[in-house]
Amino acid sequence: MGGKHRILLSLFAILISAVKIYSKFEFTNIKCNSVDKEFSDFEYCYIKSVNRSYKYLSIKANLFKTPITKINGVIFKRFNGYNGYRPFMFNVTLDACRFLNNTKSNPIASYFFDFIIPFTNMYHNCPFDHDLIIDKVPIDFVNHRVTKVLPVPEGDYLYETNWIAYDIKRAVVKVYGTIS
Ligand SMILES: *[C@@H]1O[C@H](CO)[C@@H](O)[C@H](O)[C@H]1NC(C)=O
Ligand SMILES: *[C@@H]1O[C@H](CO)[C@@H](O)[C@H](O)[C@H]1NC(C)=O
Ligand SMILES: *[C@@H]1O[C@H](CO)[C@@H](O)[C@H](O)[C@H]1NC(C)=O
Repeated sequence: MGGKHRILLSLFAILISAVKIYSKFEFTNIKCNSVDKEFSDFEYCYIKSVNRSYKYLSIKANLFKTPITKINGVIFKRFNGYNGYRPFMFNVTLDACRFLNNTKSNPIASYFFDFIIPFTNMYHNCPFDHDLIIDKVPIDFVNHRVTKVLPVPEGDYLYETNWIAYDIKRAVVKVYGTIS
């Protein structure tokens, strides 16, 4: 094979690998806040970049008292002309136990729960008398879901979940991401 071909081939290989590692979704930030530290607290909550292509999100929450009864999830999107994020399309409050017993009962919540099912110990019926773990949700997985499974328009997003027990907000998890 001539040198020219070899150069072309390696250029092609570089191009292919560049396309492969190109991620349209990026995690930009994560914030976990315990509103009531007697009730629950976060052991960890972070985004880690192992290398250019492998990034993931992990959360571990300790529950000290009675379980979470409701979860509220809201999507915010950043719009030009506003200071910060505004609610965008989705704001759902769920009875946690009822939902977990039949996740198909709420297709929208189910779509969001699918982001963590393979990585969490929360996919079972109530009660929840253990720590809640979301372990290494990879950016590739999220990227596939927001660009292929259900394409989401470009922009800066915030996915906020409020963890409620007996009608009192106990913890807030905010995940920020950009689709470009
Ligand atoms: C990134 O890290 C993962 C896990 O250690 C590894 O499997 C993968 O090959 C690495 N990718 C690159 C491009 O270095
Ligand atoms: C979401 O909906 C609930 C119930 O309707 C409401 O109390 C809450 O303020 C809403 N959240 C946002 C961020 O708009
Ligand atoms: C789950 O739902 C089924 C009906 O779909 C019901 O028979 C069962 O008791 C429920 N289990 C729990 C733990 O709530």
